[in-house]
Amino acid sequence: MSFAAAPRPAVPARATAVAARATDLSKVYGQGETQVVALDSVSVEFGRARFTAIMGPSGSGKSTLMHCMAGLDSISAGSARIGDVELASLGDKQLTRLRRDKIGFIFQAFNLLPTLTALENITLPMAIAGRRPDQEWIDRVVETVGLSGRLGHRPAQLSGGQQQRVAVARALAAQPEIIFADEPTGNLDSRSGAEVLGFLRESVRAMDQTVVMVTHDPVAAGYADRVVFLADGRIVEELHEPTADAVLDRMRMFDAKGRTN
Ligand SMILES: Nc1ncnc2c1ncn2[C@@H]1O[C@H](COP(=O)(O)OP(=O)(O)OP(=O)(O)O)[C@@H](O)[C@H]1O
Ligand SMILES: [Mg+2]
Repeated sequence: MSFAAAPRPAVPARATAVAARATDLSKVYGQGETQVVALDSVSVEFGRARFTAIMGPSGSGKSTLMHCMAGLDSISAGSARIGDVELASLGDKQLTRLRRDKIGFIFQAFNLLPTLTALENITLPMAIAGRRPDQEWIDRVVETVGLSGRLGHRPAQLSGGQQQRVAVARALAAQPEIIFADEPTGNLDSRSGAEVLGFLRESVRAMDQTVVMVTHDPVAAGYADRVVFLADGRIVEELHEPTADAVLDRMRMFDAKGRTN
C-alpha cells in the first residue's frame, strides 16, 4: 500500500490552510416538545491534509456534524464552510456542484449501486459531473485499494470489505478537497477495517487528502492525527496524535463522568 511512486504535485499553501470550518454551528431537529438540539454551537476546524476522527456516544451529533459540513443537511444557526465557501450562501444548484466537485462522502452502509460494476461505481460521480476520469490516477487508486482483479464485479459479488474499498476508491477518485467518512469501518471485520483505515491514512500522508472520520473504535481513531470528542451536541475534548490506549482512557473518563452526573 503505497502512493510514493507518483505523489500529487505539492501545493505548499495546503499544508497549513483549513479545509473546512464550523463556527457556532447549531442544528435543531423538529419543533416544540419534539425538538432535538443535535448540535449546540459547535466550532471546529479541519486542517488540510489532516486526518481527524470524531468520537462520542450514540446520539451525540457526530453524523449530524458530518452531514451539515458536507452540505447534505441544512444548518439552524452559525456557519459551515468548505474552504472559504459558506454553505448557507449557496443555492441548490451551487450546493450540488460543490458537493460533487469538492466533497467525498463514505457511509457506513457502502451505498454502492447494485447494478453497476465496481469500476462503474468508482467513476460514476465523475461521469455525472461530465468529468473525464484521470486514468492514471484511477489506476493508482484501484491498485492501492487492492481491487485490480475485481473491477468487473457487482457489489453483490464482493465481500463487505471489498465493497467498502470500492466506496473509498469512489471518494478518492474525484480528488475532492475533503472526504467525510461516517463509520466507514463499522460494518467490516477487523482485518478489512485495518485495510480501509490504512488506505485513508496513506491518502492523507502521500496525497495530502483531508479526511474527517466518525468512529466508535479507539483503534480506528488511533490512525488519525487528532480526535475530537462530542457529547450532547458539543465538543468536549480533543486529543492530538492519539494512540488507541489514550483514546480508550478518555472514553472511560467520559463514561465515569456520565455515571456520576
Ligand atoms: N432527521 C432527524 N430528525 C430528528 N432528529 C434527528 C434527526 N437526525 C438526528 N436526529 C437526532 O439528533 C441527535 C444526534 O443524532 P446523530 O445521528 O448526529 O448522532 P450520532 O452521534 O451520529 O449517533 P450514532 O453514534 O448512533 O450514529 C439524536 O438525538 C438524534 O435522534
Ligand atoms: Mg451517526
